[in-house]
Amino acid sequence: MRAEAQAQPNIALIKYWGKRDIEQNLPAVSSLSVTLDSLWTKMAVEFSADLAADELVVNDEQSADMLPRISACLDRVTGEGRMRASVTSECNFPIAAGLASSASAFAALVVAASKAAGFQHDTLSLARLAGAASGSAARSLYGGFVELAADDNDIDLISIADADSWPLHVVVAVTQAGRKPVGSSEAMMRSASSSPFYSSWVEQQASDLATARDAVMEKDFSKLAAVSEHNCLKMHSVMWASRPPIVYWNSATLSCMETIRALQKAGRAVFFTIDAGPQLKAVCLPDEVDTVSSALDACKGVERTMVSGLGAGARLLESR
Ligand code: PMV
Repeated sequence: MRAEAQAQPNIALIKYWGKRDIEQNLPAVSSLSVTLDSLWTKMAVEFSADLAADELVVNDEQSADMLPRISACLDRVTGEGRMRASVTSECNFPIAAGLASSASAFAALVVAASKAAGFQHDTLSLARLAGAASGSAARSLYGGFVELAADDNDIDLISIADADSWPLHVVVAVTQAGRKPVGSSEAMMRSASSSPFYSSWVEQQASDLATARDAVMEKDFSKLAAVSEHNCLKMHSVMWASRPPIVYWNSATLSCMETIRALQKAGRAVFFTIDAGPQLKAVCLPDEVDTVSSALDACKGVERTMVSGLGAGARLLESR
């Protein structure tokens, strides 16, 4: 009746932005991500007949605001006539700040809940359950380089290359660890309904994805860098042109981008990507990690940097 699981966040290089079906939380576009290793969320789920309501404790504190999404996710995993659950979560990086904490949280949650309730869901079913809670969470069920294909009625996932097949690193520059002002679901809906660039964004996604997939297969860093940065900037352009505009960046985000541009000019193998928050993620080859971290640490407004290699998908830690 109790199980604990761990998952790591993933960072999209080809972004998911926009929903085909709001009710079922199906993405309008396919995406490609890397799963990290040193940032993690652990989730323990215990179902009990003695509980009158679900409970959620995050990093030793009661968390009422996330509870409705957690309960809805548990309903999807086990069916609605379930026992109430006590959910305990531990996370070693800032939550809800555009660092994909919901991806690792829901990926770990579905694995733990499924086991605690005695189900034997396969990985794709677990990914679909996680994706119904947070679109990007589906990708954290898999390790390494992960492709999420948005089909008409559902999503499909595959790990296109292992974490150790191409040991890229990600340096995260935290510029503001607080919660983001607009949640990604609301921002996506606003983009779809008001941004004049939204339809071009959706139309061009298949071609960006194919380019990125080839770059991963060929281990062609410059090709991956060019398509990833362009895809990220297109996503943010869609947001900037929405009404009212959605701007997740701050001045430190821009300083970090300038720093990455300067490193690229100096011949360093590094590129940036930015999600629904002001943090910048620099993707680089292993030899460049120290240079990239020191350069980002020195940027005005950077609170701290975190370094991660690529890692495995969500997995069970223990159950009883
Ligand atoms: O999974 P959500 O609903 O938090 O949306 C994630 C959106 C981005 O992080 C901006 C892009 C992505 O593909 O992860």
